Amino acid sequence: MSFSARILDWYQQHKRALPWRETKNPYVIWLSEIILQQTRVEQGTPYFFRFVEEYPNVTKFAEAEEDNILRLWQGLGYYSRARNMHKAAKQVVDLYDGVFPTHYSTLLSLPGIGEYTAAAIASFSENHAHAVLDGNVFRVLSRYFGIEEPINSTIGKKLFSKLADELLDQHHPGEYNQAMMDFGALQCKPKNPDCSVCPLRVDCVAYANSLQAELPKKIKG
Ligand code: ADE
Repeated sequence: MSFSARILDWYQQHKRALPWRETKNPYVIWLSEIILQQTRVEQGTPYFFRFVEEYPNVTKFAEAEEDNILRLWQGLGYYSRARNMHKAAKQVVDLYDGVFPTHYSTLLSLPGIGEYTAAAIASFSENHAHAVLDGNVFRVLSRYFGIEEPINSTIGKKLFSKLADELLDQHHPGEYNQAMMDFGALQCKPKNPDCSVCPLRVDCVAYANSLQAELPKKIKG
């Protein structure tokens, strides 16, 4: 079985039922991804529900008073995220008639949306073939392939990005991306991963060399 087939197979058995996985609506997916950028799933979930309820579409979000958005954001920290969301929502209304974009390059042009978030929205909403690269994905790839290059060096960023694009399941990019995130969060955990039940163990370089705790490498700064 290929790498992506094993990841997808694992996902079918272990995926988390998360509320933002029930929708293809790019606006709702955007809300969830921005909330989850620096926030854990358990903490972010009630915020996600409150935002969807208060602002059911991007036009409502754009028309909101910024103070109300910030009040709803209270407790999540990094308030620039909320301010950028407001700017982005206004931009979607002004430039795209309130139709939330789904193309990677258009998404990237919105405030607060970087490569990770653009790939997430484009793949989850319309299955555009862009690989997500977050901490979970870096960890899985660095361990499985035994990559010692730091994930935050210039060379490392390029290398991991190229690898992630090559591995992406072209037929199911959205599902594959979600699967990689859950695989990293639940199976290939940062600390004490239970490799005895891992479907990638047979050819995982970190497992073969007991390097799980050493990888991924990161340069401080
Ligand atoms: N963290 C960020 N985005 C996520 C997603 N779509 N599912 C689970 N955890 C996430």
